[in-house]
Amino acid sequence: MSRLVVVSNRVGDPRQANTGGLATAMLAALRERGGVWLGWNGRFDDARAGTTQHYSDDGIEFVTFALARRQGQAYYNGFANRVLWPLLHARGDLVDYQREEYSHYQDVNHLFADVLQKRLQPGDTLWIHDYHLLPLAQRLRERGLQQAIGFFLHTPLPGVDQLRALPRHTELIGALAACDLIGVQTDADLHALHDYVTRELGARLLDRESGLYESRGQRFQCDAFPIGIDVDSVQAAAARAPRLPAVQRLRSSMGERQMAIGVDRLDYSKGIPQRFRAFGEFLQRHPQRQRQVSLLQIAPPSRGDVREYRLIRDELNQLAGAINGAWADPDWVPIRYVNKSFAQSTLTGFYRMARVGLVTPFRDGMNLVAKEFIAAQDPADPGVLVLSQMAGAARQLDSALLVNPHDLTGVAHAVETALAMPQAERQQRWTAAMDTLRRHSLEQWRQGFLDRLRDAGAARRATA
Ligand code: UDP
Ligand code: G6P
Repeated sequence: MSRLVVVSNRVGDPRQANTGGLATAMLAALRERGGVWLGWNGRFDDARAGTTQHYSDDGIEFVTFALARRQGQAYYNGFANRVLWPLLHARGDLVDYQREEYSHYQDVNHLFADVLQKRLQPGDTLWIHDYHLLPLAQRLRERGLQQAIGFFLHTPLPGVDQLRALPRHTELIGALAACDLIGVQTDADLHALHDYVTRELGARLLDRESGLYESRGQRFQCDAFPIGIDVDSVQAAAARAPRLPAVQRLRSSMGERQMAIGVDRLDYSKGIPQRFRAFGEFLQRHPQRQRQVSLLQIAPPSRGDVREYRLIRDELNQLAGAINGAWADPDWVPIRYVNKSFAQSTLTGFYRMARVGLVTPFRDGMNLVAKEFIAAQDPADPGVLVLSQMAGAARQLDSALLVNPHDLTGVAHAVETALAMPQAERQQRWTAAMDTLRRHSLEQWRQGFLDRLRDAGAARRATA
């Protein structure tokens, strides 16, 4: 079996809570198969920029390094998270493009290529993840590397008109043509990719079946690989979780009340303010539910050095205060708002306690929380998922109550429908969702991608 080298901006940490689907999914995927995981260590340090640290944990070999402060900030807080993230999540209004930051982004990709070049062995399979590292494959090919290279985008891909708004987009997105395989989350993302590469890169589709394209002498395949979860491990963790002290404390503090839950990085793409408002509207429309149900919102802060993230945090502090101020009683608050992260094992216990899972992003590549919520439920008495149509997960979990996150009244109705739903219907919907999760598991995602990558890499070498 070829050695797998995974590269992403952020690496997971097996010893503490990780927030972000890329980290939680790759940890679970690599734990099983083993491999190397290379990426930024999350620190800015001018003296040690690019100097690698090596350690092993959970059967994974980690190679991490710091970035120089100015360069790293421009790359991560600047171009990656103030241009690419909003653009990919259809928030063109938040894009703040600075030429200098783009050039630092390119330089950091050169640095990743330098670090990788020193460590890669001839038979390795390289799997690059996410929007921080769009140019990396090309930088590696320029250095003469011939290994199979795959790329997976965890975020949505918007339409060609939106991508065109990005300065130098053909240089940036065109660099992906150096990969053997480009994977996206959903069929909609795949259509967007097809439109982009054919219209903007002049790529020709050579084989529809394998999604093989050619552009300027480079051949690459494109396909959708919806990311999944390790259903058995989430289920097992959820069954054990009622014994955890944090879960027991939550249980006893809820008493006989019902609970709805939201778990999201504190990100403007997740629709948390609208969710809070919808919950307020639900309480107003259904006075009999007042005092009977609380929303637990776990929202660990994310990308706190980026302005838009500080603004959304302020907005939520204010909104949670306003809604609680309007509705709370001395012994009940409608929204329990927690800015901390929790280990996944603890989260599974929280999910299982909830009658309603509220996942209402405006845009989301997949949304693993939606899948974890389902897998964590008690099969005998499962809760109901209220899921935004705009999450990649909605294309698979059609037995959830699908909502438009902009339609607050619709979300409020869905919360009531979920709370009032008879057990038999809850079980029916849950069973359908579990079938889907098992058919599209994390294992299938990883193996499906890597099998395709192996074949695509072999085909390229055969025609070279
Ligand atoms: N997560 C966690 N602890 C927390 C909050 C979130 O472990 O306190 C995990 C969660 O279990 C999920 C991931 O972070 O696996 C979030 O992934 P998702 O795809 O839902 O959203 P993303 O953050 O990647 O946009
Ligand atoms: C999303 C992105 C990941 C990112 C994660 C957490 O899942 O797709 O690439 O790692 O959010 O964000 P952060 O900026 O903290 O790495």
